[in-house]
Amino acid sequence: MDDLRDKYLGRIAEAGDEAALEAVRLAAVGKKGEVALKMRELGKMTPDERQQVGPALNALKDEINSAIAARKAGLEDAALDARLREEWLDVTLPTRARRQGTIHPVSQVTEEVTAIFADLGFAVAEGPQIETDWYNFDALNIPGHHPARAEMDTFYMARQDGDNRPPHVLRTHTSPVQIRSMEATGAPTRIICPGRVYRADYDQTHTPMFHQVEGLAIDRDISMANLKWVLEEFCRAFFEIDGIELRFRASHFPFTEPSAEVDIRCSWEGGTLKLGEGDDWLEILGSGMVHPKVLQAGGVDPEVWQGFAFGMGIDRIAMLKYGIPDLRAFFDSDLRWLRHYGFAALQAPARHAG
Ligand code: PHE
Repeated sequence: MDDLRDKYLGRIAEAGDEAALEAVRLAAVGKKGEVALKMRELGKMTPDERQQVGPALNALKDEINSAIAARKAGLEDAALDARLREEWLDVTLPTRARRQGTIHPVSQVTEEVTAIFADLGFAVAEGPQIETDWYNFDALNIPGHHPARAEMDTFYMARQDGDNRPPHVLRTHTSPVQIRSMEATGAPTRIICPGRVYRADYDQTHTPMFHQVEGLAIDRDISMANLKWVLEEFCRAFFEIDGIELRFRASHFPFTEPSAEVDIRCSWEGGTLKLGEGDDWLEILGSGMVHPKVLQAGGVDPEVWQGFAFGMGIDRIAMLKYGIPDLRAFFDSDLRWLRHYGFAALQAPARHAG
């Protein structure tokens, strides 16, 4: 028995691969292996002999089997090590210097405005930037030869030769979304619409593309007082200045009656702009009670419903809040400007305190 053990444990230790190990296993404990043959001899033994030899053979069989399993595991580990050594590959590249992008002030301010008006119960609506002249003008009570059309420095889209329909326009304001959202949801409604608008104009405070946010609230008993409260509430939350002061100045828009432009109190002392103090006033938006004809154009009955609307320059209030002097730089894509005035990607928009 000891000879058998020494012989097979020795061979197991020497087996250099799995095939050799399997051959040893068959020769030792396979059906016709040496241990199996020895077991067959048990039948010829006396009961006493059998009681001694049987358990010893079984123990030997177990010992050989576990030695084989251990050797097998060892061979597998070695094979894996060898393979890993052989197939090693450097898949890394030297990384670039870490540069984080920034959020553009217009995006940041749009988020801030949206968050504040969401707190005030306004949903976000959208409309196309290429508009029909009906949505951009007629439906807003600006008929064909109204001077407001010329004042708006409108970009007109080309029509194919022979097509005599009125041309589409690049929307000159976000007000057409008033009509579109009334058509879509009827009254009552409370929406804002931030988006791009276009006018052929270019200087320190005008670019051919800029951003507005439209506001529209329609219900049965809305008045100028609601408009005033909402705008004051918004400005206090947005500019994060307690002493913010607004001035409502009578004005005229074809699509609101009465109409008011809203200015914000500021000072320019020492060449820097300060909000909420001083003797200067800066215009930030146009507003008013929605004209009955506009309600009608949107399919809303002016006998039952009334509401207010406003249109505010997003870029304008971004310049005011963050002290950015030149509007044109907003759209230059100058990386140095973006890094200076941009916002960290995870910086949460300022929230309405209430
Ligand atoms: N659409 C106007 C503009 O672009 C602003 C405005 C919107 C005024 C809504 C009144 C009501 O100047």
